[in-house]
Order: sequence, then structure tokens, then C-alpha cells
Amino acid sequence: MKRVLLTLAAACILTGLYAQPKLTKDNIDQVIAAMTLQEKATLLVGGARAAIVNGVTSGVAAEVPGAAGNTRPNERLGIPGTVLADGPAGLRISPTRQNDSKTYYATGFPVGTLLASSWDTGLVEEVTKAMGNEVKEYGVDVLLAPGMNIHRNPLCGRNFEYFSEDPLLSGKMAAAYVRGIQSNGVGTSIKHYAVNNQETNRNENDARVSQRALREIYLKNFEIAVKEADPWTVMSSYNQLNGEYTQQKLDLLTTVLRDEWGFKGIVMTDWGNKAGTVKSAKAGNDLMEPGNQNEIDRIVAGVQDGSISQEELDRNVGNMLNYIVRTPRFNKYKYSNKPDLKAHAEVARKAAGEAIVLLRNENKTLPLKGNEKVALYGVSSVDFVAGGTGSGNVNKAYVVTMEEAMTKAGFKLDKKLADFYRLHKDYDKVTRDLTAGTGFSGWGSAKLAETAIPAQAINLEANENDVAVVVLGRNAGEGADRKMMDDFELTSVERELLQNVSTAYHAQGKKVVVILNIGGVIETMSWKNLADAILLPWSPGQEGANAVADILTGKVNPSGKLPMTFPVNFMDHPSSANFPYNYTPTANRGFGRGPRVPQKDVDYTDYAEGIWVGYRHFVTRNVEVSYPFGFGLSYTTFTYSKPVVKATADGFEASVTVTNSGSVAGREAVELYVSAPAGGLEKPARELKAFAKTRLLAPGESQTLTMKVSAYELASFNEATSAWETAAGPYTVCFGASVADIRATALYKQKNAQNWPAHNVLAPETK
Ligand code: BGC
Repeated sequence: MKRVLLTLAAACILTGLYAQPKLTKDNIDQVIAAMTLQEKATLLVGGARAAIVNGVTSGVAAEVPGAAGNTRPNERLGIPGTVLADGPAGLRISPTRQNDSKTYYATGFPVGTLLASSWDTGLVEEVTKAMGNEVKEYGVDVLLAPGMNIHRNPLCGRNFEYFSEDPLLSGKMAAAYVRGIQSNGVGTSIKHYAVNNQETNRNENDARVSQRALREIYLKNFEIAVKEADPWTVMSSYNQLNGEYTQQKLDLLTTVLRDEWGFKGIVMTDWGNKAGTVKSAKAGNDLMEPGNQNEIDRIVAGVQDGSISQEELDRNVGNMLNYIVRTPRFNKYKYSNKPDLKAHAEVARKAAGEAIVLLRNENKTLPLKGNEKVALYGVSSVDFVAGGTGSGNVNKAYVVTMEEAMTKAGFKLDKKLADFYRLHKDYDKVTRDLTAGTGFSGWGSAKLAETAIPAQAINLEANENDVAVVVLGRNAGEGADRKMMDDFELTSVERELLQNVSTAYHAQGKKVVVILNIGGVIETMSWKNLADAILLPWSPGQEGANAVADILTGKVNPSGKLPMTFPVNFMDHPSSANFPYNYTPTANRGFGRGPRVPQKDVDYTDYAEGIWVGYRHFVTRNVEVSYPFGFGLSYTTFTYSKPVVKATADGFEASVTVTNSGSVAGREAVELYVSAPAGGLEKPARELKAFAKTRLLAPGESQTLTMKVSAYELASFNEATSAWETAAGPYTVCFGASVADIRATALYKQKNAQNWPAHNVLAPETK
């Protein structure tokens, strides 16, 4: 009898030890307690595209072909694997599958830069609500987006994925983006945290940045997104920051992100296996992506030799489980694989229309009547760039070209010209297909080069047509930065085309319209006078050309504004002095004999310009620009009333009434800048602190816009005290149609100086 009792007792103890609680929302601690070291380490490492767990291929990875990564399941404890997929302009998955006749296309939405050009957080939320629906209906748990690095320099190859040169605009756009996606019950991964502002040597480059520039420029947008939108995940970047990989930087991933900003989700690495897995995990990087067995082994060994503690490991495991219980896969959501692509295409078209920027419109060239005979120039008219290359590329069912969109809108296109460009494209495609091979639709800036048209032909076309429309295109993407020559600058073929078209059409009193189908800023100062109108749709997604046509015909009145500056010269940006603007990789770099001398702007980049990024530099130092930050024209005009600024418990509230003083309905984005009183830290002449956009106002109609700014938002970072500081005194509140076009001002008096202490972390190695 005694023996039976003992056996029973032993069985009870053993069951307790090896209990197999199935994961629920309420038993996370119990599940952690039941996990073996091996199981914990496995949960912290992704399973790559085809995950193999204990010799068995994971079903989850196989379920959504083309997804970028996943997390590994643990059947014993009821932990499902989850699926992660790119990317910012829509969901990136494979459009077709083996032995399956169905298609899995996703909508190609406008790129991040165009979304930001809308200055409309409501619109961005609407777009990403639709995008998030595709994420959910295709069985994905987290969209690896938004991309939100600051446009430090016009040539960063991934700028099109990112929002702006200004941290407030970028942060507000990212927050809206996250809210829209996550309203579907799927997650986001705000990326790339942080200071991933160039693609050249992106895996190793050491960004050397002052504490102030970090806090005010490169981290501020992430701070806003985390505090305002609670993203499920953050993606740490590939690069180093002040001498250490960001994904291994405790100060960045824990002290600032979690302790200061209150981030509650998981941090995952960008897609690369760095040797310091244990250091990453200790720093607060919960998930290694795409993940491999070495990383699991390193974590196990790290716990065994004490280089990472059990508590640190359990902290990360807890974060992972808290993430997993939020996912559709955990909640057994039955996805349809049938999102409403038709409805989403409409959302994409509308969004592009609300964001396209009208840069120039001499003598009301636009809108056109809509039935003109049009000579459409430029290979990009038939090879339209909907989005960039690399992981930001979306596998969409189609891309509407300018040729198709304008024909559909009622224009009569010059057939000879259209045939010529189509032939050129087909010929190029044949040659390109012979050399192609990446599943990413090409990397870097793969793009059909402009082709020359003889001046005599242009003269003939000018006789036969009413107006010339020239589409200039650029593509860029992950893995390479753009170049100063033949990319930021026009190529000689493009320049000649513009010159000849301008001469021929203007000689007959006919207009020239230029459409900039680009992913990043180009030089415009030297040639803009050749055009009567310039439209900037960026890379506007699969329906973007229809949106351009809507604007050309006046069906939509443009209301987008620039989220960055268009400088006169590339070198006018202070960051250009420390940017690899003409870098060509050399073979075997780093494998030569003897110690390698670190190469400036490649192995390391000095952010010597500090906080003087974009308009902060141009406005404060009175440097001429081609188009200022926040600039954009409309087919109507607006007047701004005398503003009202009232102190609140926590800062101020500012209102201004905007009236449509022109003759067609339109929307106006109002930008609120603040000039700080002298005496405190040195500050830019003006900094964007808020913005708002009117609804569609009929001629004569008004709307009052109210914006709030807190004392904390007025603060600058003082490195000497490691604190955010807001000086007391009069602040000039400026209401601008752009940073260079201030329409009304008012004063706000900050009664007392205020400060918010922060940790003294992230300093450069040598000061
Ligand atoms: C990119 C990320 C992307 C990831 C997964 C990386 O190379 O930098 O932005 O989310 O790949 O595709």
C-alpha cells in the first residue's frame, strides 16, 4: 500500500515537472515554467523560409509561400508558428504556387514617400486598413512595415519606402500606418531601428551620430510611433550605431525603447545572422530572423555558460508568447485567401490622388481639358514604376501605365510615339530576361534607360499634337544607394529630350507637362523652366497612373505637399559630404593583405551635420532650394485667417481658419512650425510641430483646423544634462503652406522652463 502511495506521489511530481500546459492568453508564466532550455531557445529563433523543426518541415512556413520569415511552432505546448511578410507598399508573397491554379496577388499601394506627401493621417489609416486586410486574409500575422528611416540624404536607395526628412511627419505617418494595419488584428514591424540611412555596406556600416541628433532626428519618429500606436514589433537594423550593431545595443533596444518609451512588443533582427546572437538576446532582441540552428545553439550555450541569464532568457520568451497570443494564427483565424483586390485597387487610386504633388503650373497649364492630342514621351510612360525593388516590391496583378491611363481618361495619344516606346520596352525585356534571375524583381536601381528621339521627329510631333507630356522615371531599392550622376542628375539623353520637346512645343505655343515617376529626390533646378507644369506622383502603386490622369484632367485637385526638400545641388545637403554618392563596390574589399583601412562613408559614416538635416539646414542658413519642404500647388488658392493660440495645461492649442479663395474645390494641408526663443540650445529657425489637412472645400467654403502641441514636443535634447529641455519665453507659432511660405503667425508664451531627464546613453565612441 505504502509503495502504491509513493508511486502515485512520484507520478504527481513528475506530471508537475513535465506538465504540458497548452498556451492560452492567461497562462504564459506557466508555459514558460514548463519549457525546456532547448524549447525556449527555439522560440527565439525564426525558422527561415522553410522551417525545419526537429527534422520536420513546419507547416506554417509552407502555408504562405513568399513570406519573408516565421516563428517556430511548439506543438507540445500549443504554441503555433506565426508568419512574417514584407513590406511597406503592400503585402509581398508569391503570387502563384506549385500545383495550384489560383493566384495570390496583393495590391501595390503607393510607396511610403507618397503616403507622407498626403499629409493626411486619416488617409494613411484608410490605406493601411485595406492593406492589413490582405495581410490577414492571406494568412500572415505580421507585416514587416512601415519603413521609417529618416531621409538623411536624397540618395539612400530605400528612401521611397520611408516617409520624410522630418521626424514629426515621419512619426505621425508611421503611427497612422500602424493603427490602420493593426486594426485588422495583425501586427506591424516598424523598421529599421535605427539609423539605417544608407544601403551601401548596410550590414556593417557604423553610423556615428551625436546624442542630440539621435534623439531629435533619428529616434524621434520611432518614439512617436511607439507611444502613439503600440506596434506589435520593432525590427532592429543591420548597421552599427556608434560602434555597436543596433541589434546588440542594450541602450537602444531596452533602455530607450522599453524603459523610456514603454514599448511592450517584441524586437526582431533584420534578416541576417550576426555572430553575436547571445549579445542580441541580452540586449532585448527577442527574435532572430530569418533564423538558423546556429543561433539556437548559441543561445543554449549562452545560458549554460552564464553569458545570458535565465531571467533574460525568460524575459524574451515572455515577450514572444505575449506576441503570439495576439496573432490570428494563435486565434485560429480562418483566412480566405480572397481579399477584395478590386475594392483595394480603388483605395490605392484614391490615396495616390490625394497625395500627388503639383510642383509647377505656369499660367494654369493644368488641368487639361482631357480630350487633347497628346505626345507622350519617355520610356516610363510604358514602363511605369509602381514601387521600388527589393523587399519593398509587391507582387501585384498589374500596373496601369501612363499610356493606358491617359487613353482611358479620354486623351488621344500619338500612336507612332506610343508604338515606338512599347517596342523599345519589349526589346529591352527580351534582353533583360536573358540576364535576369532574382525573385525580387531586380535589386538596386534596375530600370529601363531613357532612349533618344531625334529632334526632327519631335518637331513633327509638335505639329501634330496639342500638348507634350514627358514621363521621367527612376527606380531604386534595397541593397544599393542611388548615384549622383545620371540618377540624382538627369542623364544627357533625358536633358536633351526635355530641351528638344520644350523648344519644339513652345515654338508653337504648346505646353509641356513633366511627370516625375521617381522613388527619390532628383535635381530639378536646372531644367524646370523648360516645363510648364510638373507633377510628382513618386512611385504611386499599381493604380497610380490612373490617379495621375485624374489630376491631369482636373477630376482630382492635387493637394499633396513635399515631405522633403528638393535642393538646388546635391552637395547643398550637409549630409552629402559624408554619403557614398558615387560608390562602386570593389572586388574583394576587405580581403587584401594587411590590416584594412576603414573606408569613409562605407565602413563608417560620420553624421557630422548633426541635427541639420533637410529643411532645418536650408531654412536656418538661408540656402536656396529648388522646392522647399512642405511645398505643393493646387488648382485653387487658400487664405489663412488670423490664428488663435491658447495655452493649455500642457502646452498650447492653435487654430486657423482656411478658406478656399479660388474657383474649384480643393484641400489644403496646413503646417505648424515653431521658432523657439533665443537663449536656450541652438535651434533650427523653424521646426514642424503639427499639421492638419482640410476636407474638400468648395469655392468660398472655410474650415477651422485645430492643432495641439505639448511642452514636451517643444523640447530639444541637451547632451550636457541628458535631458529634454523646453526653454521659457515666447515661441512664434507659424502656419505655413510650406516651410518657406508662412501665411500667419501668433505667439505662445511658455511660462516656465521645463525638462524631462533621459538616460545618458548612445554616445559616440569618441566625442
Ligand atoms: C530588409 C527588411 C525586410 C527583410 C525581410 C531585409 O533584407 O532589410 O526590410 O523586411 O529583408 O525580407
